[in-house]
Formats: sequence, C-alpha cells, structure tokens
Amino acid sequence: MGEAPSNSIPRHVAVIMDGNGRWAEARGLPRKAGHRAGAESVREAVDACLEKGVKFLTLYAFSSENWNRPEKEINALMKLLEQFLRTKGKEFRKKNVRLRTIGRTHLLPESCRSELAKVINDTSSNTALTVILALSYGSREEITDATRRIAEKIARGELEPDQIEKDTIVEHLDTAEFPDPDFLIRTSGELRLSNFLLWQLSYAEFFITEKNWPDFRKSDFNAALEIYSRRQRRFGRV
Ligand code: FPP
Repeated sequence: MGEAPSNSIPRHVAVIMDGNGRWAEARGLPRKAGHRAGAESVREAVDACLEKGVKFLTLYAFSSENWNRPEKEINALMKLLEQFLRTKGKEFRKKNVRLRTIGRTHLLPESCRSELAKVINDTSSNTALTVILALSYGSREEITDATRRIAEKIARGELEPDQIEKDTIVEHLDTAEFPDPDFLIRTSGELRLSNFLLWQLSYAEFFITEKNWPDFRKSDFNAALEIYSRRQRRFGRV
C-alpha cells in the first residue's frame, strides 16, 4: 500500500488513551503497570505523527473525573507524569516537538507543574509537532471557565452580550491557539466522549478500536491514519 497523499493526513489528532487498567489486570499486574506501558504507546504515537506530518496531537492523560480514583492510583499517575516530563524534555527538544497543556493544571501537584513549565518553556519554539496534554481536563469545566471569563469581560464593560459570536467562545477555550481536531482515536472499545473536547470535536472523524492503549503501537496509529485518509468529510454539505 502506498503512502497516503499529504492532504489526507489529519492536521490534528486527538486520542482518548483508554484501557491501561484493563491491560494490566488481564496480566495480573497492578494498574500502574498499565499506565507505564501506556507511556510507551505515547512515545510511538508521537513518532508516528512526526513521520506522517501530523502537526497537533492532543492526548487525554488525566480527566477532571480521574480525581475520583483511589489516591494511590492518582499518586502513581502523577509520578509517572513527572518521570515522563523529565525524559521528554530532552527527547522533545531533539525531535523538534513543542509541548502544551489544556485543563485545570493549577490543580496538579507542584512537582508536576514545575516540570511541565520547564518542558513547555524549553520547547516553545519547536515546530515539527505540538503535543497537547489534557491534564485535569474536562470539556464541561473548560466551557464553564470560558463562560466565566466572557462574563467578566461583560461586567467590566469590555464586551456587549450581542457581540458574542462562535469565535468569542473559541477564543476563550483552553484550545484557543490550536485548530480543531480532525480525527479522534479512542482505544479499548468504549463508544463515548467522556467529557473530552465536546466543542472542538464537532466535525471530527472518529476511530474506535478494541485494543487497549498499551497495545496500540505505531503500526496501529499508522493504520488508523490510513482509515482516516479514506473518509469523506462533508461538514454538513452534500
Ligand atoms: C485510561 O486507562 C488512561 C488514563 C486514565 C491515563 C492515561 C495515562 C497514560 C497513558 C500514562 C502515560 C501518559 C503520560 C502523558 C504520562 P484506564 O485506567 O481508564 O483503563 P481502564 O478503563 O481499563 O481501567
């Protein structure tokens, strides 16, 4: 099979990396082993995007709802995130990858926030690919925060209610500086959005696979891109 023409490569891919826990449990391993294996799939997804010319990759790494998990698992995830950021700093600089985040990241532990700030700062002028980590992210929370910021502008007299357009909302979302995702990948077979990018995914193509995230490697990512290239996007037109 030949390479897909470059105009059929999605500019922005968003991923719900589900099934780490199930992957681990199926092997009699602790859940955190699944998250660790999932971090390796992240590395392969980044490489696939770099090779194929995807410009933005958003990864749902920790949802607003994930704060309700047992403290032990939250701590393991935060520790993994910290380790991930320590090694990614160097790797992202070498691979020309820029890191960004969306979500209520002020709720993360200080140790994660300082690592995040370091990598975001060190990679800010990189241009090959932007990796956006959704951390402490929930779409309804994001839309709520955006609405509050718009209301504050109205209260200060900087904006009139009838000046609110779709773009006003877009400009106040965490994703203001990024294009909408063209393609959503969800692993481990669940058929739902789980409070992920509800506004931004309005016209995205969806791809759902039964594979758990730790089993979703570069060849799987490339196969998904191939499926995307055969989709016809009509945006409500005929
Ligand atoms: C969903 O699996 C996955 C998560 C809640 C965390 C995603 C985190 C990683 C892939 C770790 C590496 C990434 C970074 C950026 C450090 P689940 O635990 O909900 O699985 P289950 O549905 O089978 O229980």
